[in-house]
Amino acid sequence: MSDPDWESALQLFNNKQKYTMAQKRSKQWYQSLFENYGRRYDHESFTQGTAGECDFLEREAGFNREVRILDIGCGTGRHTVEMAKRGYLVTGVDLSESMLAMAREKAALAGVTPEFLQGDARKLKFRHAFDMVTMLCEGAFPLMETDEMNFRILKNAARALVPGGKLIFTTLNGLFPLFNSTVDFFENNTGEEDAGYENIRFDLMTFRQFDTTIFTDDAGITRSLECSERFYIPSEINWMLRSLRFRTIGIYGARLGAFSRDHKLTAEDFEMLVIAEK
Ligand SMILES: C[S@@+](CC[C@H](N)C(=O)[O-])C[C@H]1O[C@@H](n2cnc3c(N)ncnc32)[C@H](O)[C@@H]1O
Repeated sequence: MSDPDWESALQLFNNKQKYTMAQKRSKQWYQSLFENYGRRYDHESFTQGTAGECDFLEREAGFNREVRILDIGCGTGRHTVEMAKRGYLVTGVDLSESMLAMAREKAALAGVTPEFLQGDARKLKFRHAFDMVTMLCEGAFPLMETDEMNFRILKNAARALVPGGKLIFTTLNGLFPLFNSTVDFFENNTGEEDAGYENIRFDLMTFRQFDTTIFTDDAGITRSLECSERFYIPSEINWMLRSLRFRTIGIYGARLGAFSRDHKLTAEDFEMLVIAEK
């Protein structure tokens, strides 16, 4: 006769194994969204500030074209290609082959040859190889499903920098949902061509926004995805970067196409611009 305790333990173990395997098989929303969305993505209203954003990157690079730039979560290569056109040495990394295909197409059209690599920002192995690392418009960070994964991305970005190198990223401002409604924000800032957001819910315990994103992919098929993104408050960013041994950290309000150290961060900024030096 079999022992009932042993049987239920075995059952539990089997269920857990099945759950872990299913989790591994199922795609995260950020994998599904960027599977076939590059063309539409480039028409989103929040992607229309590329030239001005690159003006800012150039100022931060001191207009020194020897500066080697790593663009993490480069997407369709908006900034990678534009910076390459301006004469900089740029490497773009992204998880999505489809976004990279668009980036390569754009680079070829522009007659430039930045390096594009398919890779996961959580697993990057670069060590002291770049003078500047960028992660713009939520390039990988803060899209991951756990805080540990997001931190790992920051850690890898930090390791990729030479001593004295600069990390520049824009990310969701945790002060915004404390004083404003994210539902209103999306209602007032979503254009005709943009993806739509429904069932928006901000969770104060995790500082995550959950929503149903409705978008039309590049094949013209309307799809919906359950998404979740992490908002960070400036003090969290500060301690994470300090623990990664950044010497100076500046956090500013991120304005579309007009990144600048002159914009003091307020609770009205939906995104923040972070500039940290090793
Ligand atoms: C919102 S887009 C930003 C793209 C680009 N930086 C821009 O400014 O348009 C986010 C990009 O991050 C990429 N991504 C998501 N998770 C990633 C990961 N773990 N490693 C590398 N790239 C990732 C996605 O494939 C997508 O192209």
